[in-house]
Amino acid sequence: MTANLITFDLVALVLTAAAWIAAGATAASRLALPAAGLTALGLLLTVARIALTVLLGTDGGWWFVQEKVVLELPLQVVTAAAAAVLSAPRLIRPALARGTLEGEPAPVAVPLFTAGYAAAAGLVVTLLIGYPATAAVALLTLALVVLAGLVTWRLLDTRPRGIRLSAGGVAAVVGVAGVLATFAGAPATDAGGGPAVAYPAAKGASVASLTGPAAPQPGGTVRRYTLDARTATVKLASGRKVSAWTFNGTVPGPPITATQGDLVEVTLHNTDIAAGVTIHWHGYDVPAAEDGAAGLTQDFVAPGKTFVYRFLAEQTGTYWYHTHEDSNEGVQKGLYGSLVVTPRGTTPSPTDLTLPVHTFAGATAVGDHDGVDTRQLAAGSPVRLRVIDTDNVTHRLALAGVPFTLSAVDGNDVHGPGRLTGTALSLAAGGRYDLAFTMPSTSVALLVDDDTSDGLRLVPAGTKAAAAPDTAGWPELDLTSYGTPGTPGTPGAQPLTAASRFDRRFTLVLDRGLSLSGQTKGRDWTINGHAFPDVPTLVVRKGDVVEMTVVNRSLATHPWHLHGHSVWVLSRNGDPVSGSPLKMDTFDVKPGEVWKVAFTADNLGLWMVHCHNLVHASQGMSMNLAYDGVTDPFDMHQMHGD
Ligand code: C2O
Ligand code: CU
Repeated sequence: MTANLITFDLVALVLTAAAWIAAGATAASRLALPAAGLTALGLLLTVARIALTVLLGTDGGWWFVQEKVVLELPLQVVTAAAAAVLSAPRLIRPALARGTLEGEPAPVAVPLFTAGYAAAAGLVVTLLIGYPATAAVALLTLALVVLAGLVTWRLLDTRPRGIRLSAGGVAAVVGVAGVLATFAGAPATDAGGGPAVAYPAAKGASVASLTGPAAPQPGGTVRRYTLDARTATVKLASGRKVSAWTFNGTVPGPPITATQGDLVEVTLHNTDIAAGVTIHWHGYDVPAAEDGAAGLTQDFVAPGKTFVYRFLAEQTGTYWYHTHEDSNEGVQKGLYGSLVVTPRGTTPSPTDLTLPVHTFAGATAVGDHDGVDTRQLAAGSPVRLRVIDTDNVTHRLALAGVPFTLSAVDGNDVHGPGRLTGTALSLAAGGRYDLAFTMPSTSVALLVDDDTSDGLRLVPAGTKAAAAPDTAGWPELDLTSYGTPGTPGTPGAQPLTAASRFDRRFTLVLDRGLSLSGQTKGRDWTINGHAFPDVPTLVVRKGDVVEMTVVNRSLATHPWHLHGHSVWVLSRNGDPVSGSPLKMDTFDVKPGEVWKVAFTADNLGLWMVHCHNLVHASQGMSMNLAYDGVTDPFDMHQMHGD
């Protein structure tokens, strides 16, 4: 609904600007009847926009209408009222008489044009600035609208008037003030209403010193892996060749597995990835120095160089790893793999399948299988499919031929997962779903984006796969009401609910807009109107209970990802989670949505917070979260491949 209202309002805004400008143009040509009609249309559309803004504000919230309420609509209403008072009376009589406009047309046309400029300015503000419109933006907008009106007057009316000069001077001064205020810049930190924290910290522990332990827990072993980053031509299952960036020559990279309590030790070596490489353990809350965020927790590993990651396998479930230097290009080209940790005392079954979904040159691959991947399984065996979205976009999953449960989300078990049939799952970029079922005596199909030309087929031994059904009409599961209620939060600690006492509350409004400081220096993906590296850093103290509200004002989906912490979802669009407690590390904030999540700041360090559509992240939609007393010796400009 909110997304539709955003679109309707944009359309209404374009029409309003067009109506007023056309009214001005027809009046300037003395065409009384069309000018009168267009004026009426302009007034009508202006009223419609007020109604749409009220609807959008009530449906979505203040973030969706702030710039309209404080700037655009007042400007629009004042200019439209001026047009109604100054222009309309002189149009009505000749219009009724089907005559032409008598006398000087400028005093009639200029107010109409100005109302059009106000609407056009509103469009520019919404598309380029969005939330929040500041005083600087208001001054600049006002100056531009007044100047445009004066220029029009000058063009239409040749007799010089003193008032034009003085009004022009005032507008110029207002505009200059606006420009100066624009360059005042963003604050360095956002304390979320809590006590201020110095950032960058002047003294304290270097993030590089926050390393993992050197030994496994009692009873655990050391899982040693060597990952060699190198370019390679990789042959997918269909025979299609892709020139990839790989770990050990394959895509995906080698699966990393461990049992809870083991020590994972990964030696990363870079052979020839000129851009540099690191490894980030996505969703795995490792100590900060092991997090692999180039430019924040380590320098990228250049060709010929090595870096060793060590962390305890404490969380169980499905995770993944990927490069975090120039991650957009690197992950797309193949620098990723799976990380699966199973509970101690269980033996991983042969029907436990890890399935990273990735797009190579337009083809969807599950693992390295583009096209259909068919596997034989004995009927009656317990099956777990661990699906990982390693792409930049949401994937829709459909499991046909068997009732199943969504037993884990982002590695976290769902409480009381119900049986599902004929229900599709929307998996965020970077997210993971574990699907569990008992293999039936008939074939099963896992479809990605309802495409029957690829995906996975499971067939009982000795049989052939049945044709996959059309799943395009299946409804999507609502995660927030799936499963049975439980207590959100770390067992033993204070539950994390909307009623918790929060030490800090952060609000992140995601949009697309102009930024002169980001990497792109153009229309970037923004957070609270800023693009990386100018987004104020979120600051916390260890132990803080934090609420984060993520608002999507744009018309694209933003899979929101926080390093080093998983979050508990409190609500989506104001509706509290009513099913299983929902713990996630990557949640899809779709257009017009508002998510409230909570976490405890219990992992000292410096962490990235970003959109996992890595195109968006590389174009500004990224920021940092810093703990009090952690210093950073690295160069932040390495982030996103600068
Ligand atoms: Cu998979 Cu910074 O992320
Ligand atoms: Cu995004």
